[in-house]
Amino acid sequence: MNKKRKLRSADWFNDPNHPDHTAIYIERYLNYGLTREELQSGKPIIGIAQTGSDLTPCNRHHRELAQRVREGIRDAGGIPLEFPVHPIAEMGKRPTAALDRNLAYLGLVEILYGYPLDGVVLTTGCDKTTPATLMAAAAVDIPAIVLSGGPMLNGWETKNNEEQRVGSGTIIWRSREDYARGDIDYEQFMQNVTRSAPSVGHCNTMGTALTMNCLAEGLGMSLPGCAAIPAPYKERPAMAYYTGRRIVDMVWEDLKPSDIMTRAAFLNAVRLCSAIGGSTNAPPHLQAIANRLGVELSIDDWQTFGEKIPLLVNCQPAGEYLGEDFYRAGGVPAVMGELLRAELIDGSCRSVNGRTIGENYARQLPRNTQVIRSFDDPLRENAGFAVMRGNLFDSAIMKKSVIGDDFRKNYLSNPEHPNVLRGRAIVFEGPEDYHRRIDDPALEIDEHCILVIRNCGPVGYPGSAEVVNMRPPNYLIKRGVSCLPCIGDGRQSGTSASPSILNASPEAAVGGGLALLETNDIVEIDLNKNQVHVLVEDGELQRRRARWQPPRLVNQTPWQEIYRNTVTQLADGSDMDLKEAHLHIVECHGTP
Ligand code: FES
Ligand code: MG
Repeated sequence: MNKKRKLRSADWFNDPNHPDHTAIYIERYLNYGLTREELQSGKPIIGIAQTGSDLTPCNRHHRELAQRVREGIRDAGGIPLEFPVHPIAEMGKRPTAALDRNLAYLGLVEILYGYPLDGVVLTTGCDKTTPATLMAAAAVDIPAIVLSGGPMLNGWETKNNEEQRVGSGTIIWRSREDYARGDIDYEQFMQNVTRSAPSVGHCNTMGTALTMNCLAEGLGMSLPGCAAIPAPYKERPAMAYYTGRRIVDMVWEDLKPSDIMTRAAFLNAVRLCSAIGGSTNAPPHLQAIANRLGVELSIDDWQTFGEKIPLLVNCQPAGEYLGEDFYRAGGVPAVMGELLRAELIDGSCRSVNGRTIGENYARQLPRNTQVIRSFDDPLRENAGFAVMRGNLFDSAIMKKSVIGDDFRKNYLSNPEHPNVLRGRAIVFEGPEDYHRRIDDPALEIDEHCILVIRNCGPVGYPGSAEVVNMRPPNYLIKRGVSCLPCIGDGRQSGTSASPSILNASPEAAVGGGLALLETNDIVEIDLNKNQVHVLVEDGELQRRRARWQPPRLVNQTPWQEIYRNTVTQLADGSDMDLKEAHLHIVECHGTP
């Protein structure tokens, strides 16, 4: 560790060649009590990228955790400077939280690049806060460490005199069916939902938030064991303290995101995602982070490296348990241990603690095999994402770990064509159209239909809406059909147990194949070949294409216009397609 190294922050606070500039910077940072001695001491200045606020309830407790981070930084000989990140609340931001991931990324890049910071603690939690902050740290490539906020405690309800787990989001998808059937009223619906949120923290299911925090740890970007500690546990502020301590040494070691997040590390994360039954939002997020580092990664890697991995973690929505159980059973370390023993993880990858992934996790075992299964006794085989292709899109994904027994029996068990299903397409032009017409008897939706939703991709919505897991019409739910096959160019919540075919790229709004589909077309889904086709002649598809008019897109805010003009498709990370200054901004260009 070279503690004599000249640090980046010295360009601001200690540049003898530009005493006037140094004076200007120093003078203003003293006005709340920092001393010149501290700022010119050569100690690492560590940013705390604060994602918590009243608008981002899932991360709000990071405001208290930051105190322990500060204490860790000080004890290790650094100086903390805390600053806000643009809020992203999954369940609060209209039209979509996804719209703001790239905005928060851009904002954080400007901060990390333009201020006197030698390293940064990324406070993560709610879905997009993890990828947005990792994208920025990767782009600027200064030492960075993830501090997850952790999931809420388990939610509970009493049903038939028995305590049952109630998981975030998942309870909404389940209760809306009960509500549609008339089994519960509005009041009961609201009560069910609030039971899933008993404490501070992010979603307690294996939704996008817990998935992305697990993958951040699997990538090597947080201290081992960080991802799953429930937000209210005492281990959480302790982890905040150790994270603060560690980033200071990372600065002296010059251990940067590009040293940790290599292609091998991303492939580790892809495999981990399958084993935990992770969210379908993970592929675009990991892609966007990899793009910032120039690391090669593609949607095909999910098929090649992820699809055959078994499901080890028994958490909702793919299983029964919740984040608190997952933590107590061993969390990410236990899953990484299982995958390392099966030789599916590259143990030579580095992590933020300076050790390798193999050194960190090789001896970790599940403490409760109901919740984290051993590799030899998984919950489900081949549980990763299938990457689907055909004449409706270049790629779309399907989460195989949530294909339940009912779905298999109803749709995939034709003895002549096992794993092949054909259905009549019912096409909706976005969520508003879906809600207006789904219960309309004139559509004659029955159990042989496939629900399709389009114009919900990054450009169409904008941001890409989590709407593909469409409930069937109420009259079908009352007859016991609670799930129909769904296809769409939007996304779905990571808390959903629907085996939809989603993230279709390119999306309909930019002329992807889904734009040509018509209600009553027959669509074939073949899970043996991972293909989806509309059974319509090529000539007819060409005639439809000649007639096709792009939808009229209205930008309600300036950012929506910038976003739509720059965003790439979900298969490419719904990333920003910029010409330059987007990758690996290493050097600070000094004083103006
Ligand atoms: Fe924020 Fe789920 S809504 S983590
Ligand atoms: Mg979500």
